[in-house]
Amino acid sequence: MRTETPPLIHLAEYRPSDFLIDRVDLDVRLHPSRTRVTAMLALRPNPAGDPTAPLRLDGDELALVALALDGQPLPEDAYAVSPSGLVLSAPPRRPFTLAIVTELDPGANTKLMGLYRSGAVYCTQCEADGFRRITYFLDRPDVLSVYTTRIEADRDEAPVLLGNGNPVEAGALDGNRHYAVWHDPHPKPAYLFALVGGRLGHVATRFTTMEGRDVAVAVHVEPGKEARAAYALDAVVRSMRWDEEAFGRPYDLDVFNVVAVSDFNMGAMENKGLNIFNDKYVLASPETATDADYAAIEAIIAHEYFHNWSGNRVTCRDWFQLCLKEGLTVFRDQEFSSDMRSRAVHRIAEVRQLRARQFPEDAGPLRHPVRPTAYAEINNFYTATVYEKGAEIVRMLKTLLGPDAFRAGMDRYFAENDGRAATVEDFLDAFASVSGRDLAAFAQWYARPGTPRLAFRTAYDPAARTCDLTLSQSLDGGPPLVMPVALGLVGPGGALDADCPDLADGVYVLTDREATLRFRGVTERPVPSLLRGFSAPVRLDGALTEADHLVLLARDTDPFNRWQAGQSLALRLIRAGGPAEAFAEALGLLLDAEAPRDPAFAALMLSLPGEGEVANEIEAEVDPDAIHGARKALRAALGRALRDRLEDIEARLAEPVGTPYSPDAAAAGRRALRNAALDLLAAGDPQAGAARAAARLEAATNMTDRLAALGTLALIPGDAREAALAAFGARYADEPLVLDKWFALQATIPEPGTPERIEGLKRHPAYALTNPNRVRALVGSFAFGNPTQFTREDGTGFALVADTVAALDGANPQAAARLLTAFGSWRKLKKSRAVKAEEMLNRIKAIPGLSRDVADIVTRTLA
Ligand code: PHE
Ligand code: ZN
Repeated sequence: MRTETPPLIHLAEYRPSDFLIDRVDLDVRLHPSRTRVTAMLALRPNPAGDPTAPLRLDGDELALVALALDGQPLPEDAYAVSPSGLVLSAPPRRPFTLAIVTELDPGANTKLMGLYRSGAVYCTQCEADGFRRITYFLDRPDVLSVYTTRIEADRDEAPVLLGNGNPVEAGALDGNRHYAVWHDPHPKPAYLFALVGGRLGHVATRFTTMEGRDVAVAVHVEPGKEARAAYALDAVVRSMRWDEEAFGRPYDLDVFNVVAVSDFNMGAMENKGLNIFNDKYVLASPETATDADYAAIEAIIAHEYFHNWSGNRVTCRDWFQLCLKEGLTVFRDQEFSSDMRSRAVHRIAEVRQLRARQFPEDAGPLRHPVRPTAYAEINNFYTATVYEKGAEIVRMLKTLLGPDAFRAGMDRYFAENDGRAATVEDFLDAFASVSGRDLAAFAQWYARPGTPRLAFRTAYDPAARTCDLTLSQSLDGGPPLVMPVALGLVGPGGALDADCPDLADGVYVLTDREATLRFRGVTERPVPSLLRGFSAPVRLDGALTEADHLVLLARDTDPFNRWQAGQSLALRLIRAGGPAEAFAEALGLLLDAEAPRDPAFAALMLSLPGEGEVANEIEAEVDPDAIHGARKALRAALGRALRDRLEDIEARLAEPVGTPYSPDAAAAGRRALRNAALDLLAAGDPQAGAARAAARLEAATNMTDRLAALGTLALIPGDAREAALAAFGARYADEPLVLDKWFALQATIPEPGTPERIEGLKRHPAYALTNPNRVRALVGSFAFGNPTQFTREDGTGFALVADTVAALDGANPQAAARLLTAFGSWRKLKKSRAVKAEEMLNRIKAIPGLSRDVADIVTRTLA
């Protein structure tokens, strides 16, 4: 069997469902290998559908046990059934019920889609199309039903039984079994269905909504780990409050449950009233989690909670509209985190992530519009483009309309689409109608793939005190986009108070291919500060000199652009070399001012663009070794030039012995700066750095500092490193989430010995190909975070990842396909490396019986 290009589903071919399902009554009898599911579906013809159509229910690897229509068993010639579908050729043309009995083997479900077991816990994952692995159904997001779920299980095996909505009944049964009934009054698509059964501990609290509803909130985890769920529980409560204050959105059920499981393909899932999480995004203690973990938990708890309105109350008409819930919800969680922490620091983190993940995707073979128009496998479209560029579009909309009209538009969107399956057009219509603006041109952001370029030039007339700023945009030679450009002029003395009638609140909306703005009253030669706060997801083509960047670094009023100036200077030095003195001196002065005032910002100023970001700037013939070498040399130069200051920071920011750990942003910022100082010092003097890092490792009282010190040490070959790695591995042998950090750290060592080290770690007792977190930590970190070794000329790096993809595909195609996306930028590599990547991709393509997930990625990557 040769891999065929999988067939495509097209947005243009959307048709409403021919049938609707108003109510679903499920009876699920949990058993490790023979779980019985009885689904009672209340169906009716859809007035908007084809009145002569057959009823086609989706299935996936299902086994039908029994089937009845309006209580009567169906004769065999009335239907056709297979594991992937159930078709009634002549269904009633009036409301009717179907009772469908299926039998499932959750223990054998390694795809982690549908009903499966994570350890001993029964759980479900139904987005995007996993419900069809539980029963035959109209598994599409525009079919909304009211669900009642009865769950039955062995009392010892599954003392806790959770479902969507509110608990209505529970009780004991014969034979040590028990049951619970859950009812969700809010109509929802099948992808939001969930149930959980298992032995779980929990932490709980109550929250009273703005409407006066008393909600029982709980986070369920593996027994014994309850204390590690406290931060997540607090994040839920803060999310509930924030969504009321920022968007006027109250919670709408009497209970809200979060469950952490250890085997999960993605980060987390927003099932109605029953969010299921990858335990990595719930469990935290100072001893096991870093500041970054705490921040990620806060963000993802918020993200899933916010979906209750942006995704659940208002859902998507079809999967092409995925950004409608994901882009919007990422925007909402970013705003939440910005309010909880430092807005400027968070914005920088968002943009770094966008550039690291989305820009390369948008420039490679897997590029697609934020709203795709065709897909072969929807699970391959949970991408940085849909999520992060999708969020940037919402952010631009807010910038264009201003906060008040934006909020009014959001209110309108929720009001008009509540209980409906909506489209991107519905979303934009809400904003157009409250603001009176025509958003047709703006809508192109959803349709056009690729990262637009923004270029500029200035003409300063000192005599007339005018400055003309010309902006021009381009994207694949197509028509211009609507681009909000936040900007201002800066001089050596600070922001210039010049007059420009084209700016509203410091923003110019570029709608033409090119436009010139005139500033008056410009008293000195200005440097333009463009794209403040990264007001549009574009590439800014540099026409600034080193001196200009130094002015912005020192004097811009926009913190994002001060950081950006540092990044631009570093990029220039990494790409073209040259003396780093001026940059180092400017960074030194900045540190003097900012380290005491805003340590988190100072830490970001010290971190140079990553190797991937440097590669992004290069069109072709990318040589990761050259990038790595140049970046390392710059880090060493900065470490030496800033030594006194960095040592001073290290000493001054040491926490007094006995200071209790707090994950708050201020404390995390101080740790970030101190650890950045350690890292640069070690780059400048590896010998002394190894000793310093070893001492810091010894003294560390929390995982943030311990992992940072180990990370610094890991870059310095030698016995000290090996001893420290071994000790860390032994210390956390029973902590899989900590071992993931240890796997990742070793997988990203940029040395030729790393593939062999990874092969050794694959034999570690804690490593398992069946657990997505382990595979991501060890092989994913290598593929996405170790460019010099992954792309090695001898091909061993590509082979390591390809072998894992091949080994994983049979059991878990989604995880395999995701890992394979690491090959996305292969064509841009230096020829000697690109040929090896191509060879490996062709080898994968030739594997017989490849999943649709992997076949889709491999064919698009090679196209
Ligand atoms: N919808 C989830 C989110 O919040 C992501 C997800 C997709 C999880 C598919 C599981 C499966 O972003
Ligand atoms: Zn989401």
